[in-house]
Amino acid sequence: MPVPGSTPGSPASGPGAAPSPPTTQKSWDRSWPVLGREVADEPLDAEAWFGRPAPLVIEIGCGTGTATAAMALAEPHLNLIGIEVYQPGLAQLVQRIEREEIGNIRLLRGDAVDVLENMIAPGSLTGVRVFFPDPWPKARHHKRRLLQPATFALIADRLRPGGILHVATDHAGYAEHIAEVGAAESQLIGLNGTVGGAGTTQRESAPIGFERPVTKFESKAHTAGSAINEFIWGKIE
Ligand SMILES: C[S@@+](CC[C@H](N)C(=O)[O-])C[C@H]1O[C@@H](n2cnc3c(N)ncnc32)[C@H](O)[C@@H]1O
Repeated sequence: MPVPGSTPGSPASGPGAAPSPPTTQKSWDRSWPVLGREVADEPLDAEAWFGRPAPLVIEIGCGTGTATAAMALAEPHLNLIGIEVYQPGLAQLVQRIEREEIGNIRLLRGDAVDVLENMIAPGSLTGVRVFFPDPWPKARHHKRRLLQPATFALIADRLRPGGILHVATDHAGYAEHIAEVGAAESQLIGLNGTVGGAGTTQRESAPIGFERPVTKFESKAHTAGSAINEFIWGKIE
């Protein structure tokens, strides 16, 4: 599915932006107006944006989009939205989407919690992916962590019955916190060993895949000897 035709758009600038190489800037100018939107305070019509009805999956904090692109290519039947505040990361992903003509990714720039609260209807998501969320390791910063009870409840509410929440982290302390908070969310049941899941049956019938490529970020964690904790929950049916 090719990326649809593009129109001139806003430059790759704004809060938090670093200067982009010329080719990245050019592809941003061409394709951001088609592929991307700013987070807004209004419901999102995803089917109209993608130009087709398909199960909707969001990835929170997609960074430079290594996993987003690989998973979208592996799952062309899904509509995938990457959400990120870091504009240079989005610019790299836009370039890759153009280069590889990936048709099933759209991008939102801004805070994923605002997206979940204001743009996504309850029971409408087939999957939510959160790969290597910022761990905020200092105790006084723990309140800044994305995965708190309120965010788990919000994600669970936006998932459809049988929908999947897939989280990975390389930070041991954050992993403990995620396991604890996830276990307390009554709308979710664990589907893999980390979260007390019984076996492979439910995972095999899950509506999204779980194969992630190893990103640059994750390979640094491997080099540092950090274990990767993977969590898979399903929304109760
Ligand atoms: C540690 S990086 C991981 C990036 C990517 N998932 C990976 O595995 O390489 C965490 C990312 O989450 C983004 N992020 C943090 N809080 C966010 C939020 N509330 N909404 C959207 N993105 C967020 C950051 O900008 C950063 O790019």
